[in-house]
Amino acid sequence: MYNDKKVVFSGVQPSGNLTIGNYLGAIRNFSAFSNEYHCYYCVVDMHAITVRQNPAELRRRTYETLALYMACGLDPEKNTLFVQSHVPQHAELGWVLDCYTMFGELSRMTQFKDKSAKNADNINAGLFTYPSLMAADILLYQTELVPVGIDQKQHLELARDIANRFNQIYGETFVVPEGFIPKEGAKICSLQDPTKKMSKSDTNENAVVRILDSKDDIIRKFKRAVTDSNNEIIFSLEKPGISNLLTIYSCVTDKTIAEAEREFAGMGYGDFKLAVGEAVADNLAPVRAEFARLMADKAYLEATMAKGADEAFRNARRTMSKVKRKIGFTEPKH
Ligand code: TRP
Repeated sequence: MYNDKKVVFSGVQPSGNLTIGNYLGAIRNFSAFSNEYHCYYCVVDMHAITVRQNPAELRRRTYETLALYMACGLDPEKNTLFVQSHVPQHAELGWVLDCYTMFGELSRMTQFKDKSAKNADNINAGLFTYPSLMAADILLYQTELVPVGIDQKQHLELARDIANRFNQIYGETFVVPEGFIPKEGAKICSLQDPTKKMSKSDTNENAVVRILDSKDDIIRKFKRAVTDSNNEIIFSLEKPGISNLLTIYSCVTDKTIAEAEREFAGMGYGDFKLAVGEAVADNLAPVRAEFARLMADKAYLEATMAKGADEAFRNARRTMSKVKRKIGFTEPKH
């Protein structure tokens, strides 16, 4: 709406060490949009505090997440890379949208139910209204397309509902965003319980492969991955462990599942798991090297953050003043 280019927006929380699920299902695909779209990739630190964070760790992970964006191929000259709390309009629009989001809608969010079960001693209001802040992130930039993992689909649909509701009351204000959910890699599962999504906060380290794990750790975790009975390496609902490994392999090698099945036909599970581990470790090696280089250059990371915040602020301010006018807020004349 403000640029000639359509807008892509996505966010990653700086709340844990990112996994290959975050990488294959989301971040790795982000750079494909850079030429055609104006892309905003945000480190959503405000979302992260909906569960208790250690301040020093949150700060470190904010830098790490930004560095990881870049290490995964996002050029800060071609994309707006920024930190959510650096642009105050996120909080401002978040509050406004809270008033156009229904209690019943928020109560139905499965992520809220899961996180409340996990953090029973801290079911705070922010955890509950998390989706309206996420809607604010997206709607502030007149976003057309939101690349996310399948677990964020429900939040995205709510963001669309909120946008439509607001537009209906006040006239065209927000672009109604579409999700972009990759078919494969959208859901990478735990190596220890392949019926569950791989979660960066899993307490069992063997279940999670992190983008920054060493080659040895990656291979060890794959060797220990849970498989299924009988020895066939085929993709099937009855074989969640083997299917998950085939999905991971096909994502990192850009081969189809069928090609992978053919390649491994007749192989034992042990050799198969080793081959998948090696493919993942090789695929991540350049990301890890670039990440280390960036983390050693704090001044560059800070300059990138500042530039991203300025770019984001300029467009966020336009949407926010439009919203204020529409809802009848007054503006001080200094
Ligand atoms: N909720 C998202 C997640 O946990 C992160 C996020 C916050 C996001 N705001 C966003 C993703 C806006 C896409 C667009 O993965």
